[in-house]
Amino acid sequence: MLNISSIEKDSTTNSQTAGLLEAAHKHVLFTVNRPDVIMASGEGMLLLDTEDKTYLDFIGGWAVTALGHSPAVLQQALARQAATLVHASPGFYNKPQIEFSKLLTTISGMDKVFFTSTGAEANESAIKLARKHGALHLNGAFEIITLTNSFHGRSLAMMSATGKPQWKNLFAPKVDGFIHVPINDIDACFAAVTNNTCAIMIELVQGEGGVHEVSEAYLYAIRKMCDMYGIILIVDEVQTGLGRTGKLFAYEHYGIKPDIMTLGKGIGGGFPLSAMLTTEAYDLFQPGDQGGTYTGQPLAMAAGLAVVQEILDRDLAANADLQGRHLKQSLNELANTFPITEVRGKGLLIAFDLPEGMAPSLAALCMEKGLLINASNASTIRLMPPLIVEQTHIHQLIGILKEAMEQLFMNVG
Ligand SMILES: Cc1ncc(COP(=O)(O)O)c(C=O)c1O
Repeated sequence: MLNISSIEKDSTTNSQTAGLLEAAHKHVLFTVNRPDVIMASGEGMLLLDTEDKTYLDFIGGWAVTALGHSPAVLQQALARQAATLVHASPGFYNKPQIEFSKLLTTISGMDKVFFTSTGAEANESAIKLARKHGALHLNGAFEIITLTNSFHGRSLAMMSATGKPQWKNLFAPKVDGFIHVPINDIDACFAAVTNNTCAIMIELVQGEGGVHEVSEAYLYAIRKMCDMYGIILIVDEVQTGLGRTGKLFAYEHYGIKPDIMTLGKGIGGGFPLSAMLTTEAYDLFQPGDQGGTYTGQPLAMAAGLAVVQEILDRDLAANADLQGRHLKQSLNELANTFPITEVRGKGLLIAFDLPEGMAPSLAALCMEKGLLINASNASTIRLMPPLIVEQTHIHQLIGILKEAMEQLFMNVG
């Protein structure tokens, strides 16, 4: 069913794959259950494993491969920059860093950028900056309000910021100073604000939490409250930023502007890169407050610059909007036949619900059939394909989903 003609086949033999898997089980530290599959190459919407099986990728490297797998612009930018300067030192400016900072501030309406490598680090920078503001302007206020069911990363502080109930007692003691309130409950948020509050940090569409959006009225009220008390509004756009939701930044759907925004995932198209952006008013760090060996590193900057420029040149935010609408409509049509409920999300960050416990079985069956989808919990399927996805890919996805759901729900085949 899938067009594999354009991908280069991997030369690994079956027995080599078996040997590699044995080595993986022996040497790779266990952190998560992985299938016995080794990914070998990728192109556009497709991934290929060492057994030459092809997968249509609607996980998109976990909302990362905005331009699809191994895009030519990224290959060329990396090769060019690697031949020029891989790394100087965080103590010096470099040309791609300056160019990329200029581009990001221009398209976001923010004034300043600090670069990191992962979403968690970008969020850590945001928290530090908010606490600096608290120390300088709010009598030492340090608390940050975040949402129940949110996800902000896996460093210790970001696990404390994250509102996943399962993480509440994990790796105690937690980093102090994070208060969790339910999404879209403005009264709860108002009630949580004290003299100790320096910031509110939110995802505008909760990605890992199962694709739940904040309402316009809620965000508007939060923005007003932040202005009233001099509190910083941080939006975590690590998953939603750079076209994913059908606009360049998710906050544009709401008609508000944050004080700090964090970006990650799609910004490097697969190269590890993230960023924290803020306005002139919060240009508060002093030497020693924040840094990192790889901040603004030339190779990462060249990758980010090429990826973001391509997202802009091809208006991939508009494609995400268009294809997201097709995708939602097709899923709603499937819901006439199968027990799919609550098709939701913005752009190409989409989820739907299934009867409790069925999502992992559906994801596993689809993988057998050459389709990658994410079961974000026992009853939710999340789709976050590359922003280059086309209608033909959506037809292929729906065809495989249909086949798998017939098998799963109607005991056919
Ligand atoms: C909204 C959000 N913030 C932060 C992160 C953490 O990013 P990273 O895994 O790159 O640290 C994620 C990752 O899924 C995310 O979805």
